[in-house]
Amino acid sequence: MDKVRLAVIGIGNIGNLHLRNIENQPKVQLTAVCDIVPEKADAAAARYGVKAYYDSDALLADKVCDAVIIATPHYFHTTIGIAALDSGHHVLVEKPISVHKADCERLIAAHERYPHLVFAAMFNQRTDPFYQKIRDIVKSGELGTLQRVNWIITNWFRTQSYYDSGGWRATWGGEGGGVLLNQCPHNLDLLQWITGMPVKVYGFCEIGKRHTIEVEDEVTAFLEYPGGCTGLFVTSTGEAPGTNRLELAGDNGKLVYEEGKEIIFTRNLVPASEFLRTSPESFARPPCEVETYTFEHHGGQHMAILENFADAIMTGVPLIAPAEEGIHSVELANAMLYSTFIGGPVQLPLDGAAYEARLQELIATSTFKKEVRENVVSDMSKSFG
Ligand SMILES: NC(=O)c1ccc[n+]([C@@H]2O[C@H](COP(=O)([O-])OP(=O)(O)OC[C@H]3O[C@@H](n4cnc5c(N)ncnc54)[C@H](O)[C@@H]3O)[C@@H](O)[C@H]2O)c1
Repeated sequence: MDKVRLAVIGIGNIGNLHLRNIENQPKVQLTAVCDIVPEKADAAAARYGVKAYYDSDALLADKVCDAVIIATPHYFHTTIGIAALDSGHHVLVEKPISVHKADCERLIAAHERYPHLVFAAMFNQRTDPFYQKIRDIVKSGELGTLQRVNWIITNWFRTQSYYDSGGWRATWGGEGGGVLLNQCPHNLDLLQWITGMPVKVYGFCEIGKRHTIEVEDEVTAFLEYPGGCTGLFVTSTGEAPGTNRLELAGDNGKLVYEEGKEIIFTRNLVPASEFLRTSPESFARPPCEVETYTFEHHGGQHMAILENFADAIMTGVPLIAPAEEGIHSVELANAMLYSTFIGGPVQLPLDGAAYEARLQELIATSTFKKEVRENVVSDMSKSFG
Protein backbone atom coordinates (compact mmCIF):
# COMPACT_ATOMS: atom_id res chain seq x y z
CA MET A 1 0.00 0.00 0.00
CA ASP A 2 1.54 3.36 -0.97
CA LYS A 3 -1.48 5.46 0.01
CA VAL A 4 -4.25 4.94 2.53
CA ARG A 5 -7.71 5.18 0.96
CA LEU A 6 -9.62 7.42 3.31
CA ALA A 7 -13.21 8.62 3.82
CA VAL A 8 -14.41 11.47 6.02
CA ILE A 9 -17.69 11.00 7.91
CA GLY A 10 -19.23 14.30 9.08
CA ILE A 11 -18.53 17.26 6.79
CA GLY A 12 -18.88 20.17 9.21
CA ASN A 13 -16.34 22.63 10.62
CA ILE A 14 -13.62 20.13 11.36
CA GLY A 15 -14.56 17.65 8.64
CA ASN A 16 -13.86 20.36 6.06
CA LEU A 17 -10.45 21.03 7.61
CA HIS A 18 -9.67 17.32 7.37
CA LEU A 19 -10.66 17.35 3.69
CA ARG A 20 -8.24 20.22 2.99
CA ASN A 21 -5.46 18.44 4.88
CA ILE A 22 -6.06 15.18 3.03
CA GLU A 23 -5.65 17.06 -0.27
CA ASN A 24 -2.18 18.14 0.87
CA GLN A 25 -1.07 14.85 2.40
CA PRO A 26 0.52 12.50 -0.15
CA LYS A 27 0.22 9.42 2.08
CA VAL A 28 -3.59 9.43 1.91
CA GLN A 29 -6.16 9.52 -0.84
CA LEU A 30 -9.74 10.65 -0.32
CA THR A 31 -12.17 8.11 -1.80
CA ALA A 32 -15.54 9.08 -0.26
CA VAL A 33 -17.34 11.56 1.96
CA CYS A 34 -20.39 11.06 4.14
CA ASP A 35 -22.84 13.39 5.84
CA ILE A 36 -26.46 12.89 6.84
CA VAL A 37 -27.18 16.26 5.27
CA PRO A 38 -27.10 15.36 1.57
CA GLU A 39 -26.20 18.89 0.38
CA LYS A 40 -23.07 18.83 2.51
CA ALA A 41 -21.98 15.41 1.29
CA ASP A 42 -22.78 16.32 -2.33
CA ALA A 43 -20.89 19.62 -2.19
CA ALA A 44 -17.77 17.97 -0.77
CA ALA A 45 -18.03 15.05 -3.20
CA ALA A 46 -18.22 17.45 -6.15
CA ARG A 47 -15.31 19.53 -4.89
CA TYR A 48 -13.01 16.54 -4.38
CA GLY A 49 -14.29 14.27 -7.16
CA VAL A 50 -15.30 11.37 -4.88
CA LYS A 51 -18.49 9.49 -4.07
CA ALA A 52 -21.03 10.98 -1.62
CA TYR A 53 -22.81 8.93 1.05
CA TYR A 54 -25.62 10.07 3.34
CA ASP A 55 -25.41 7.07 5.63
CA SER A 56 -22.18 5.80 7.22
CA ASP A 57 -23.37 2.15 7.14
CA ALA A 58 -23.72 2.33 3.35
CA LEU A 59 -20.24 3.81 3.07
CA LEU A 60 -18.72 1.11 5.28
CA ALA A 61 -20.55 -1.68 3.40
CA ASP A 62 -19.21 -0.47 0.03
CA LYS A 63 -15.56 -1.04 1.03
CA VAL A 64 -14.48 2.10 -0.78
CA CYS A 65 -11.80 2.95 1.78
CA ASP A 66 -9.25 1.41 4.14
CA ALA A 67 -9.80 3.98 6.87
CA VAL A 68 -12.28 6.60 8.08
CA ILE A 69 -12.08 9.87 9.95
CA ILE A 70 -15.14 10.31 12.19
CA ALA A 71 -15.93 14.03 12.53
CA THR A 72 -19.60 13.90 13.55
CA PRO A 73 -21.17 15.10 16.82
CA HIS A 74 -19.69 13.14 19.74
CA TYR A 75 -22.39 10.50 20.39
CA PHE A 76 -21.84 9.09 16.90
CA HIS A 77 -18.12 8.61 17.56
CA THR A 78 -19.04 5.48 19.49
CA THR A 79 -21.67 4.00 17.17
CA ILE A 80 -19.92 4.80 13.89
CA GLY A 81 -16.54 3.91 15.42
CA ILE A 82 -17.75 0.43 16.40
CA ALA A 83 -19.38 -0.10 13.00
CA ALA A 84 -16.20 1.01 11.21
CA LEU A 85 -13.98 -1.34 13.23
CA ASP A 86 -16.45 -4.22 12.88
CA SER A 87 -16.37 -3.77 9.11
CA GLY A 88 -12.57 -3.86 9.00
CA HIS A 89 -11.68 -0.16 8.76
CA HIS A 90 -8.88 1.72 10.47
CA VAL A 91 -10.35 4.59 12.49
CA LEU A 92 -9.24 8.11 13.31
CA VAL A 93 -11.87 9.48 15.68
CA GLU A 94 -12.35 13.09 16.67
CA LYS A 95 -12.22 14.16 20.29
CA PRO A 96 -13.86 13.31 22.63
CA ILE A 97 -13.68 9.64 21.61
CA SER A 98 -17.12 9.17 23.24
CA VAL A 99 -19.44 11.17 25.48
CA HIS A 100 -19.11 9.00 28.57
CA LYS A 101 -16.88 6.34 30.04
CA ALA A 102 -19.15 3.35 29.37
CA ASP A 103 -19.33 4.30 25.68
CA CYS A 104 -15.53 4.67 25.61
CA GLU A 105 -15.27 1.12 26.96
CA ARG A 106 -17.65 -0.16 24.26
CA LEU A 107 -15.60 1.52 21.56
CA ILE A 108 -12.30 0.29 22.97
CA ALA A 109 -13.71 -3.24 23.31
CA ALA A 110 -14.53 -3.16 19.59
CA HIS A 111 -10.91 -2.33 18.82
CA GLU A 112 -9.73 -5.14 21.08
CA ARG A 113 -11.58 -7.53 18.73
CA TYR A 114 -9.47 -6.24 15.81
CA PRO A 115 -6.08 -5.28 17.21
CA HIS A 116 -4.54 -5.28 13.70
CA LEU A 117 -6.62 -2.19 12.87
CA VAL A 118 -5.15 1.22 13.64
CA PHE A 119 -7.32 3.18 16.05
CA ALA A 120 -6.24 6.78 16.66
CA ALA A 121 -7.73 9.92 18.18
CA MET A 122 -7.45 13.50 16.95
CA PHE A 123 -5.58 14.90 19.93
CA ASN A 124 -3.71 17.32 17.70
CA GLN A 125 -2.39 19.40 20.59
CA ARG A 126 -0.09 16.53 21.53
CA THR A 127 2.00 17.60 18.52
CA ASP A 128 2.67 21.04 20.07
CA PRO A 129 6.38 21.25 21.07
CA PHE A 130 5.49 23.43 24.08
CA TYR A 131 3.32 20.70 25.62
CA GLN A 132 5.83 18.03 24.57
CA LYS A 133 8.58 19.95 26.40
CA ILE A 134 6.45 20.33 29.55
CA ARG A 135 5.68 16.62 29.47
CA ASP A 136 9.38 15.75 29.01
CA ILE A 137 10.37 17.90 31.99
CA VAL A 138 7.72 16.27 34.19
CA LYS A 139 8.13 12.68 32.97
CA SER A 140 11.95 12.76 33.08
CA GLY A 141 11.81 13.70 36.76
CA GLU A 142 13.54 17.07 36.16
CA LEU A 143 10.74 18.90 37.98
CA GLY A 144 10.96 16.41 40.85
CA THR A 145 8.00 14.88 42.65
CA LEU A 146 4.88 16.77 41.56
CA GLN A 147 3.25 18.81 44.33
CA ARG A 148 0.65 20.89 42.53
CA VAL A 149 -0.84 21.37 39.09
CA ASN A 150 -3.16 24.25 38.20
CA TRP A 151 -4.68 24.82 34.81
CA ILE A 152 -6.80 27.92 34.34
CA ILE A 153 -8.25 27.60 30.85
CA THR A 154 -10.98 30.20 30.74
CA ASN A 155 -10.35 31.65 27.30
CA TRP A 156 -12.99 29.49 25.63
CA PHE A 157 -15.41 32.45 25.46
CA ARG A 158 -18.61 31.71 23.53
CA THR A 159 -21.61 34.01 22.95
CA GLN A 160 -25.26 33.15 23.53
CA SER A 161 -25.62 33.38 19.76
CA TYR A 162 -23.14 30.49 19.38
CA TYR A 163 -25.32 28.38 21.65
CA ASP A 164 -28.57 29.66 20.11
CA SER A 165 -27.55 28.41 16.67
CA GLY A 166 -29.49 25.39 17.94
CA GLY A 167 -29.00 21.68 17.36
CA TRP A 168 -26.76 19.30 19.22
CA ARG A 169 -24.48 21.82 20.92
CA ALA A 170 -24.77 22.37 24.67
CA THR A 171 -27.56 19.85 25.16
CA TRP A 172 -27.48 16.58 27.13
CA GLY A 173 -29.19 14.72 24.29
CA GLY A 174 -27.09 16.12 21.45
CA GLU A 175 -23.70 16.64 23.03
CA GLY A 176 -23.75 15.09 26.49
CA GLY A 177 -22.14 18.07 28.21
CA GLY A 178 -20.89 21.59 27.74
CA VAL A 179 -17.45 23.14 28.03
CA LEU A 180 -15.96 19.89 29.41
CA LEU A 181 -17.12 17.84 26.41
CA ASN A 182 -16.71 20.38 23.63
CA GLN A 183 -13.92 22.82 24.40
CA CYS A 184 -11.86 21.03 27.06
CA PRO A 185 -11.14 17.51 25.78
CA HIS A 186 -7.74 18.69 24.49
CA ASN A 187 -6.83 20.28 27.84
CA LEU A 188 -8.00 17.27 29.83
CA ASP A 189 -6.08 14.94 27.51
CA LEU A 190 -2.90 17.00 27.84
CA LEU A 191 -3.36 17.20 31.60
CA GLN A 192 -3.55 13.42 32.02
CA TRP A 193 -0.77 12.97 29.42
CA ILE A 194 1.54 15.19 31.49
CA THR A 195 0.55 14.27 35.07
CA GLY A 196 -1.20 10.90 34.84
CA MET A 197 -4.67 10.40 36.29
CA PRO A 198 -5.82 11.68 39.68
CA VAL A 199 -7.43 9.32 42.17
CA LYS A 200 -10.05 11.79 43.40
CA VAL A 201 -12.04 14.56 41.72
CA TYR A 202 -14.24 17.15 43.41
CA GLY A 203 -16.03 19.11 40.72
CA PHE A 204 -18.10 22.25 40.93
CA CYS A 205 -19.81 22.58 37.57
CA GLU A 206 -22.18 25.47 36.98
CA ILE A 207 -25.06 24.59 34.71
CA GLY A 208 -26.00 27.47 32.41
CA LYS A 209 -24.42 30.04 34.70
CA ARG A 210 -23.39 32.54 32.01
CA HIS A 211 -25.58 31.38 29.12
CA THR A 212 -29.09 30.03 28.72
CA ILE A 213 -28.06 26.43 28.14
CA GLU A 214 -28.84 23.11 29.85
CA VAL A 215 -25.21 22.01 30.36
CA GLU A 216 -22.14 23.34 32.21
CA ASP A 217 -20.43 26.55 31.10
CA GLU A 218 -18.19 27.14 34.12
CA VAL A 219 -16.17 24.58 36.09
CA THR A 220 -13.79 24.53 39.03
CA ALA A 221 -12.46 21.10 39.93
CA PHE A 222 -10.11 19.96 42.67
CA LEU A 223 -7.96 16.94 41.84
CA GLU A 224 -5.97 14.67 44.12
CA TYR A 225 -3.19 12.49 42.73
CA PRO A 226 -1.49 9.40 44.09
CA GLY A 227 1.49 10.59 46.10
CA GLY A 228 -0.27 13.70 47.38
CA CYS A 229 -0.03 16.09 44.43
CA THR A 230 -3.09 18.32 44.23
CA GLY A 231 -4.62 19.97 41.21
CA LEU A 232 -7.06 22.64 40.19
CA PHE A 233 -8.75 22.76 36.80
CA VAL A 234 -10.76 25.88 36.01
CA THR A 235 -12.61 26.54 32.81
CA SER A 236 -15.37 28.75 31.43
CA THR A 237 -17.04 29.83 28.21
CA GLY A 238 -18.41 32.99 29.83
CA GLU A 239 -15.27 34.81 30.93
CA ALA A 240 -13.52 37.44 28.82
CA PRO A 241 -10.72 38.01 28.08
CA GLY A 242 -10.03 34.74 29.90
CA THR A 243 -6.76 33.06 30.79
CA ASN A 244 -4.75 30.08 29.65
CA ARG A 245 -2.19 29.36 32.34
CA LEU A 246 -0.75 25.95 33.15
CA GLU A 247 1.40 25.87 36.26
CA LEU A 248 3.12 22.82 37.72
CA ALA A 249 5.07 22.85 40.97
CA GLY A 250 7.48 20.07 41.90
CA ASP A 251 10.23 19.50 44.41
CA ASN A 252 12.76 20.89 41.91
CA GLY A 253 10.90 24.07 40.97
CA LYS A 254 8.03 25.51 39.01
CA LEU A 255 6.91 25.42 35.39
CA VAL A 256 4.62 28.10 34.02
CA TYR A 257 3.20 28.17 30.52
CA GLU A 258 0.90 31.09 29.85
CA GLU A 259 -0.94 32.25 26.74
CA GLY A 260 1.11 30.01 24.43
CA LYS A 261 4.22 32.19 24.56
CA GLU A 262 7.04 30.56 26.51
CA ILE A 263 7.65 27.99 29.19
CA ILE A 264 9.31 29.44 32.26
CA PHE A 265 11.11 26.86 34.37
CA THR A 266 12.21 28.26 37.73
CA ARG A 267 14.59 25.57 38.87
CA ASN A 268 15.43 25.07 42.55
CA LEU A 269 19.17 24.51 42.91
CA VAL A 270 18.40 22.53 46.07
CA PRO A 271 15.16 20.49 46.13
CA ALA A 272 12.50 22.22 48.26
CA SER A 273 12.04 19.14 50.49
CA GLU A 274 15.77 19.01 51.26
CA PHE A 275 16.14 22.77 51.77
CA LEU A 276 13.26 23.00 54.22
CA ARG A 277 14.79 20.20 56.32
CA THR A 278 18.38 21.42 56.26
CA SER A 279 18.37 25.23 56.16
CA PRO A 280 19.17 26.84 59.53
CA GLU A 281 17.38 30.05 58.48
CA SER A 282 13.69 30.58 59.18
CA PHE A 283 12.70 32.55 56.11
CA ALA A 284 15.23 31.39 53.53
CA ARG A 285 14.19 29.85 50.22
CA PRO A 286 16.07 27.50 47.94
CA PRO A 287 18.28 29.38 45.49
CA CYS A 288 16.93 29.07 41.98
CA GLU A 289 17.63 29.95 38.38
CA VAL A 290 15.22 30.71 35.58
CA GLU A 291 15.23 28.96 32.21
CA THR A 292 12.84 29.74 29.40
CA TYR A 293 11.90 27.59 26.47
CA THR A 294 10.23 28.79 23.34
CA PHE A 295 9.50 27.29 19.95
CA GLU A 296 8.82 28.89 16.59
CA HIS A 297 5.54 27.09 16.03
CA HIS A 298 2.92 24.95 17.73
CA GLY A 299 3.61 21.74 15.82
CA GLY A 300 1.96 19.96 12.94
CA GLN A 301 -1.43 19.71 14.72
CA HIS A 302 -4.21 17.99 12.70
CA MET A 303 -1.96 17.38 9.69
CA ALA A 304 0.68 15.70 11.88
CA ILE A 305 -1.92 13.38 13.45
CA LEU A 306 -3.22 12.53 9.98
CA GLU A 307 0.28 11.71 8.69
CA ASN A 308 1.04 9.65 11.80
CA PHE A 309 -2.25 7.74 11.28
CA ALA A 310 -1.26 6.94 7.67
CA ASP A 311 2.27 5.93 8.74
CA ALA A 312 0.86 3.67 11.46
CA ILE A 313 -1.32 1.90 8.87
CA MET A 314 1.41 1.57 6.26
CA THR A 315 4.55 0.99 8.33
CA GLY A 316 3.36 0.33 11.89
CA VAL A 317 4.94 3.40 13.55
CA PRO A 318 3.58 4.09 17.05
CA LEU A 319 0.60 6.43 17.27
CA ILE A 320 0.96 9.89 18.77
CA ALA A 321 -2.54 9.53 20.24
CA PRO A 322 -3.84 5.96 20.49
CA ALA A 323 -7.64 6.29 20.76
CA GLU A 324 -7.69 4.04 23.84
CA GLU A 325 -6.02 6.89 25.74
CA GLY A 326 -9.04 9.07 24.95
CA ILE A 327 -10.97 7.39 27.77
CA HIS A 328 -8.96 9.36 30.34
CA SER A 329 -10.11 12.85 29.28
CA VAL A 330 -13.70 11.59 29.08
CA GLU A 331 -13.44 10.04 32.54
CA LEU A 332 -12.11 13.32 33.97
CA ALA A 333 -14.94 15.32 32.37
CA ASN A 334 -17.54 12.78 33.55
CA ALA A 335 -16.09 12.73 37.06
CA MET A 336 -16.26 16.55 37.35
CA LEU A 337 -19.92 16.46 36.34
CA TYR A 338 -20.80 13.42 38.45
CA SER A 339 -19.18 14.97 41.50
CA THR A 340 -21.33 18.06 40.96
CA PHE A 341 -24.49 15.92 40.65
CA ILE A 342 -23.83 14.02 43.89
CA GLY A 343 -22.46 17.08 45.71
CA GLY A 344 -19.26 15.43 46.86
CA PRO A 345 -15.90 14.06 45.74
CA VAL A 346 -15.65 11.11 43.36
CA GLN A 347 -13.00 8.39 43.58
CA LEU A 348 -11.44 7.24 40.32
CA PRO A 349 -11.83 4.95 38.50
CA LEU A 350 -15.31 6.38 37.95
CA ASP A 351 -18.31 4.05 37.98
CA GLY A 352 -19.11 4.35 34.27
CA ALA A 353 -22.51 2.62 34.57
CA ALA A 354 -23.64 4.99 37.34
CA TYR A 355 -22.59 8.01 35.28
CA GLU A 356 -24.34 6.67 32.19
CA ALA A 357 -27.56 6.15 34.20
CA ARG A 358 -27.41 9.74 35.47
CA LEU A 359 -26.76 11.03 31.96
CA GLN A 360 -29.77 9.08 30.67
CA GLU A 361 -31.96 10.93 33.19
CA LEU A 362 -30.63 14.24 31.88
CA ILE A 363 -31.13 13.15 28.28
CA ALA A 364 -34.77 12.37 29.10
CA THR A 365 -35.29 16.06 29.88
CA SER A 366 -33.02 17.42 27.13
CA THR A 367 -34.42 19.90 24.62
CA PHE A 368 -32.42 18.17 21.90
CA LYS A 369 -34.18 14.86 22.45
CA LYS A 370 -37.58 16.41 21.80
CA GLU A 371 -36.36 17.93 18.55
CA VAL A 372 -34.78 14.68 17.50
CA ARG A 373 -37.96 12.76 18.14
CA GLU A 374 -39.70 15.08 15.71
CA ASN A 375 -37.23 14.93 12.85
CA VAL A 376 -33.56 14.12 13.13
CA VAL A 377 -32.43 15.07 9.66
CA SER A 378 -34.32 18.33 9.45
CA ASP A 379 -32.95 19.30 12.83
CA MET A 380 -29.39 18.41 11.76
CA SER A 381 -29.59 20.47 8.59
CA LYS A 382 -30.82 23.47 10.57
CA SER A 383 -28.19 23.23 13.22
CA PHE A 384 -25.18 22.24 11.22
CA GLY A 385 -25.72 24.70 8.41
N1 LIG B 1 -9.73 18.24 16.94
C1 LIG B 1 -10.23 19.45 16.86
O1 LIG B 1 -9.48 20.44 16.87
C2 LIG B 1 -11.71 19.65 16.72
C3 LIG B 1 -12.21 20.92 16.36
C4 LIG B 1 -13.60 21.05 16.18
C5 LIG B 1 -14.45 19.97 16.39
N2 LIG B 1 -13.92 18.77 16.79
C6 LIG B 1 -14.83 17.62 17.02
O2 LIG B 1 -15.36 17.23 15.77
C7 LIG B 1 -16.72 16.84 15.92
C8 LIG B 1 -17.58 17.66 14.97
O3 LIG B 1 -17.50 19.02 15.33
P1 LIG B 1 -17.84 20.17 14.27
O4 LIG B 1 -17.57 21.45 14.96
O5 LIG B 1 -17.18 19.89 12.97
O6 LIG B 1 -19.41 19.96 14.14
P2 LIG B 1 -20.36 20.36 12.94
O7 LIG B 1 -21.71 20.43 13.47
O8 LIG B 1 -19.80 21.57 12.23
O9 LIG B 1 -20.21 19.12 11.92
C9 LIG B 1 -20.71 17.84 12.19
C10 LIG B 1 -21.18 17.22 10.87
O10 LIG B 1 -21.56 15.88 11.09
C11 LIG B 1 -22.75 15.60 10.35
N3 LIG B 1 -23.41 14.46 10.97
C12 LIG B 1 -24.18 14.42 12.08
N4 LIG B 1 -24.54 13.17 12.35
C13 LIG B 1 -23.99 12.38 11.40
C14 LIG B 1 -24.02 11.00 11.14
N5 LIG B 1 -24.66 10.16 11.95
N6 LIG B 1 -23.36 10.53 10.05
C15 LIG B 1 -22.71 11.38 9.21
N7 LIG B 1 -22.67 12.72 9.41
C16 LIG B 1 -23.28 13.22 10.50
C17 LIG B 1 -23.53 16.90 10.41
O11 LIG B 1 -24.51 17.00 9.41
C18 LIG B 1 -22.42 17.92 10.28
O12 LIG B 1 -22.18 18.27 8.93
C19 LIG B 1 -17.07 17.04 17.39
O13 LIG B 1 -16.99 15.82 18.05
C20 LIG B 1 -16.02 17.98 17.89
O14 LIG B 1 -15.70 17.80 19.26
C21 LIG B 1 -12.59 18.60 16.93
